[in-house]
Amino acid sequence: MTLSIVILAAGEGLRMKSKFPKVLHELAGRPLMDYALATARAAAPDYRPVVVIGNGAEAVRAHLGDAAEIVVQAERLGTGHAVLQTRELLAGRCRRVLVSYADMPLLRPETLRWLVREQEDNSGPFTMLTAVAAAPRGFGRVVRNASGGVQAIVEEAAATPEQLAIRELNAGVYCFEADWLWGQLDRLPLSAQGEYYLTDLAGLATAEGLAVRGLPVTDPDEAIGVNTRLHLAEAEAALRRRINRGWLENGVIMPDPATVYVGPDVVIGQDTVIYPNTHLIGRTSVGEDCRLGPNAIIRDTIMGEGCKVLASDLQSAELGNQVEIGPFARLRKGARLRDGVHVGNFGEIKNSTLGPGVKMGHFSYVGDATLGEGVNIGAGTVTCNYDGVHKYPTVIGAGAFIGSDTMLVAPVTLGEGAKTGAGAVVTRDIPPNSLAVGQPARVIKRWDAGGE
Ligand code: UD1
Ligand code: CA
Repeated sequence: MTLSIVILAAGEGLRMKSKFPKVLHELAGRPLMDYALATARAAAPDYRPVVVIGNGAEAVRAHLGDAAEIVVQAERLGTGHAVLQTRELLAGRCRRVLVSYADMPLLRPETLRWLVREQEDNSGPFTMLTAVAAAPRGFGRVVRNASGGVQAIVEEAAATPEQLAIRELNAGVYCFEADWLWGQLDRLPLSAQGEYYLTDLAGLATAEGLAVRGLPVTDPDEAIGVNTRLHLAEAEAALRRRINRGWLENGVIMPDPATVYVGPDVVIGQDTVIYPNTHLIGRTSVGEDCRLGPNAIIRDTIMGEGCKVLASDLQSAELGNQVEIGPFARLRKGARLRDGVHVGNFGEIKNSTLGPGVKMGHFSYVGDATLGEGVNIGAGTVTCNYDGVHKYPTVIGAGAFIGSDTMLVAPVTLGEGAKTGAGAVVTRDIPPNSLAVGQPARVIKRWDAGGE
């Protein structure tokens, strides 16, 4: 193999002040670890990344599954020590080693590819990414020599006041010639902080008269590392800017992009408008010409074209075209709304299919139900689907008209064109084209399919 990719994720993450491993903290709804992995995979699809884990190893291992080869760093003795743990696995396997840190979620795959290409053309032992940024965020400072090469990387704790003033920072991504790397790792000195710093390799190379190259990334957002929760919030804002800019460039309308929250896996169609305080999360996919928000939370939901969602909460729902939701509606797992469905205020739908054109305007609950085309659900209707032990289905035929405040005690089936009177408590099936009223409801009228 020509390349191995090593991602360091073993650190204690003390500055996060959290009981959870840093790399499992979420950014735009996805763990930090996943960004590092996705970037590595996109940059070099032929190579399975190697992840070094340690702090919170069990949880991180469970999260990774078989997405990566795993090496455990039992004692956390620094980034140099972490890479050393991979030597046994990787020595002799590859020509070059790309090392990155799991807490750098905004790196782009093309930047990693650029780094690898530059090292392929380089006769020196390694090339690294740097960033020129106003906020150093505790990063190592890059000290250049007279010929413009990297002479040393100085960690903040060990830097002189002059070095602290340097604004070129170590982004923490390196492409090494493998043989050189494996030969140097045992030579790293123990720092005053009791760690073996990977960054001291720059000084070791300089001492041998070898040139280290530093490539400054053009977008400093790429080098936003997450050491604290403040950094996590900064990364979130930067990622939001990046994602929203991408959608704005691709035909989506956002009057106030700073207040629109779109996850990295979301897909949005052209001419869709997203109003403030709207969250599109998880595997959500939105068609063209939709109007979402203000104040909508839409997770793992698929919707067609021309839908409107105002101030509502949608989770794992499926919407056809021209569906209107809200304000204040709640769609839960398995809510399937076909074309032209209208759900108004305080409607809740769970595990149910609403046929084309179903209207459910005001405070109703529909669970475990199948509603045919054009059914009208009157205000306050409830499918009583749960007896405390089991859930039961409700089936309502096409064109049925459910009167206000009807209780449908499941399991129950209403035929096509059936009607209920206001306040009916339906405990038995109602045949097609008949009207049932009362508590318990009884049929008082029938008619031909043609009409009353
Ligand atoms: C590190 C760099 C710094 C750079 C910055 C960029 C070193 C010594 N310093 O500092 O120059 O500017 O990253 O992001 O490398 N880790 C392990 N095992 C360990 C220690 C750390 O796997 O024993 C992992 C961490 O989980 C983390 C990464 O290595 O993902 C970096 O460690 P961290 O402590 O965050 O280093 P920084 O202080 O940010
Ligand atoms: Ca870090």
